[in-house]
Amino acid sequence: MPPVDQPHPEHGNLRLLRHPLVEDKLTRLRDAATPPAEFRSLLRQVAGLLTMAATADLSLQDVQVRTPMEATTARRLAGPVTVVPILRAGLALADGVLDVLPEARVGHFGMYRDEAALVPVPYYCKLPSDVAAGAVLLVDPMVATGGSACHALAQLKQRGCRRLRLMCLVAAPQGIERLAEHHPDVVVHAAALDRGLDARGYIVPGLGDAGDRAFGTP
Ligand code: PRP
Ligand code: URA
Repeated sequence: MPPVDQPHPEHGNLRLLRHPLVEDKLTRLRDAATPPAEFRSLLRQVAGLLTMAATADLSLQDVQVRTPMEATTARRLAGPVTVVPILRAGLALADGVLDVLPEARVGHFGMYRDEAALVPVPYYCKLPSDVAAGAVLLVDPMVATGGSACHALAQLKQRGCRRLRLMCLVAAPQGIERLAEHHPDVVVHAAALDRGLDARGYIVPGLGDAGDRAFGTP
């Protein structure tokens, strides 16, 4: 087992979190027999684990605190963090981020992929007005062609966001390469880099349509 969360040897923008708990949960997510309630719960659990890696570079600042014993200097997060799920499947990931970072603000991007053209179709966007004031964690379980993530990152940059990172479960090499081309400043934290895309643009072996599996839609 290689060391945890190292830069990927072929993709400088990708960090894979190798951990037995993550791998076990990902295997259960891949299993076509896993029902929606369990699927959502597993997404949430694995997101909590990935959040540790995806937030490891957040800035801290010194603060004074009085323990029951004495006054001391300790450190707290230096600024706000905003988690931004891409609807729909990103919602369960956002819940997992909030389990470990409950004070994070939450923005939402609604977009679905046109299944013929394989391009994102945006339908909703709601972000904190000062979203650029802190770090932003974009979350979506699947990076296939990378079109949806690229579009969301461009929208965030247009609003002035600079401290961006993307968290997903499963990525395809095509999506990671597209992100490296358009957003080389954004590190992608993932649980797995899969073999590629099938003729319909689905990740293989992948885990199928994450939104449909999470919400029980056909
Ligand atoms: C899925 C997934 C990503 C996108 C990835 O969403 O959650 O947002 O596809 O594909 P891409 O990298 O090729 O853009 P989907 O379009 O199925 O929307 P849904 O979650 O509402 O079902
Ligand atoms: N969207 C998904 O939900 N799954 C894929 O494999 C590709 C895009």
